[in-house]
Amino acid sequence: MNDYEYPLTMTGGHTRQQILAKMHERLSDGRLNHCLRVEETSRVLAKRFNVNVDEAGLTGLLHDYAKEIPVPEYQQVIVREGYGQDLLQYGRGVWHGMVGTWFLQQDLGISDPNVIRAINRHTTGHPDMTDLDMITFVADFIEPDRTLPGEIAARKAAETSLTKATMIELQNTLTYLVDRGALIHPLTFSTFNAFTKRVQD
Ligand SMILES: [Fe+2]
Ligand SMILES: [Fe+2]
Repeated sequence: MNDYEYPLTMTGGHTRQQILAKMHERLSDGRLNHCLRVEETSRVLAKRFNVNVDEAGLTGLLHDYAKEIPVPEYQQVIVREGYGQDLLQYGRGVWHGMVGTWFLQQDLGISDPNVIRAINRHTTGHPDMTDLDMITFVADFIEPDRTLPGEIAARKAAETSLTKATMIELQNTLTYLVDRGALIHPLTFSTFNAFTKRVQD
């Protein structure tokens, strides 16, 4: 695996090796490897679209840090930290973005606002997504192990447009959730609506 180093001001003072050791405690090998692929893909996209490569790489690496934290632990944090009762009806699929950053701050002291925001937004999306936010969102969907038709289409779109790739991902995610009769977070709807306009600009 590649051996990047990130500015300690972005990592809560931790080396990448220390971050990987902490991730190993929190994540299965399969998920950790996904994070490493998303890191790599995020760095490629950042170079392509002139975004800070360190911010993109670190965000990609850490984006699923909290995905396997037990549900009861999430429920406690959501109630205690004032995220609002409404959020309890969703599951880890949503929580590991907007609440996951709380664990990142607690465990590793990660507080870089751009990194935190992009991880916050990577599960639901956000109408105001920045280029970095879109890179995290898209890299998660097009990392090399993704081979479904929608993922291939998004990878192709991401050769030239983060906005178009994000839109393809939103369409796929919404369709997936609707087909399964799953709850959809309102932010995903508002993001989709915002991107119907953004792809026309
Ligand atoms: Fe995720
Ligand atoms: Fe992911």
